[in-house]
Amino acid sequence: MISADIAALLYLVAGVLFIMALRGLSNPRSAQQGNRFGMIGMGIAILTTLALAAPSDWVSWVLIIGGIGLGGGIGAYMARTVKMTDMPQLVAAFHSLVGLAAVFVAAAALYAPEAFGIGIPGDIHAQALVEMSIGVAIGAFTFTGSIIAFAKLNGNMSGKPIILPARHAIHIVLGVAMLVLVWAFTVSADPWLFWAITVLALVLGGLMIIPIGGADMPVVVSMLNSYSGWAAAGIGFTLGNTALIITGALVGSSGAILSYIMCKAMNRSFISVILGGFGGDSASSAAAAEDDRPVKQGAAEDAAFLMKNAGKVIIVPGYGMAVAQAQHALREMADLLKKEGVTVKYAIHPVAGRMPGHMNVLLAEANVPYDEVFELEDINSEFAQSDVAFVIGANDVTNPSAKTDKTSPIYGMPVLNVEDAGTVLFIKRGMAAGYAGVQNELFYRDNTMMLFGDAKKMTEDIVKALGH
Ligand code: TAP
Repeated sequence: MISADIAALLYLVAGVLFIMALRGLSNPRSAQQGNRFGMIGMGIAILTTLALAAPSDWVSWVLIIGGIGLGGGIGAYMARTVKMTDMPQLVAAFHSLVGLAAVFVAAAALYAPEAFGIGIPGDIHAQALVEMSIGVAIGAFTFTGSIIAFAKLNGNMSGKPIILPARHAIHIVLGVAMLVLVWAFTVSADPWLFWAITVLALVLGGLMIIPIGGADMPVVVSMLNSYSGWAAAGIGFTLGNTALIITGALVGSSGAILSYIMCKAMNRSFISVILGGFGGDSASSAAAAEDDRPVKQGAAEDAAFLMKNAGKVIIVPGYGMAVAQAQHALREMADLLKKEGVTVKYAIHPVAGRMPGHMNVLLAEANVPYDEVFELEDINSEFAQSDVAFVIGANDVTNPSAKTDKTSPIYGMPVLNVEDAGTVLFIKRGMAAGYAGVQNELFYRDNTMMLFGDAKKMTEDIVKALGH
């Protein structure tokens, strides 16, 4: 057992370590160190909580250690085996568990308030009732919302936005009904009202996420991440646990900031994402691709020849590189070009791929030097001075219609000015559109050469051709 003062101090240390973890994670160079800070902080928080409220019976210890072992074991296994492209749905699945945990803790506090020091059954402190009802509402909403997000990202449900009739009116009615129930529960502490809030929030979470299309899903996951943080902070107040309040607030605010940054990078307003109805799935992408204008097609040998003789090549990776896992072959190609005296740089669009930092993580995995990797605003003006823009599995992030076509769904999104390069090489399997489902005018331009094929296979072929 430790005193409450020592516990408060240790929780503060854990909180500082969590902040250092977030700081570290903001850059691939320091991300591993950031992760370590996070793990140490979490270890301190768990041990402090156990020392503070050490149970005296062995059954509780078995349950606690068994729970940590089982949960930690499953988590470690999933984190080790998950494919990089499946990361968004894994995160969604984890958030659903945070939401469910918030519901369970709120229910436990309702039925055993004396264990939480918030009153006795039938006479719970008013403040705790408010925290409990808000915590359970956000938790239940996050639970079903995250499950729908998971199903859409994992392909169990169509990624198309599903438009339910009168959905906005239904959401408003359910939202208002929930506020009324929260108010009624905080004055009466009636367990039936508690469960009514839970059911309503579960329904609302599902209904609000169903209309949102797959293209907006990463923003939704980040938004649900934020909600799960606030739900955890709510539980922290109920449990009187400072570490949980700090962690919840950090997750809540960082998730909200990330959602904002993603919306800005895609030129979408947060409200329009929540209201749903944007984007499509591969079917609409294929439809958008029906265009029989001729394109200039090349082979790996052509690409190798062009790049070998270039002074500067800028590589633009996108979702297709991630799907094909072409990053290692890509680094090999860049190494060979550098040996030939070519300057090679990588241009990263903030929403290339399907999650924030997607490309940076893959390039770091392939040991691409950090000083060759540039953000959009730092490299965009350099395309005009480069001989080749090598676009590998990217599409929307290069689409000039974002600059010119007011009717385009991506109008206003900042894009990489690849068309300013001497030649633009596009590796993709066919003429399909990208995630936003819009055709890319660049494919038909005179200075574009299409390299049709799987990103990894084509890059390996270029590597072979460079070796000759
Ligand atoms: P996309 O525009 O989705 O284009 C990817 C291209 O890769 C496709 O056109 C596809 O064409 C090609 N491709 C797929 N598999 C391939 C493979 N195995 N080998 C070669 N090519 C392959 O990707 P992007 O340019 O990275 O843009 C990202 C999009 O996702 C944006 O619209 C963005 O708004 C959206 N989004 C991103 C995020 C974050 S945070 N990154 C969040 C939400 C939404 P083929 O089928 O013809 O091969």
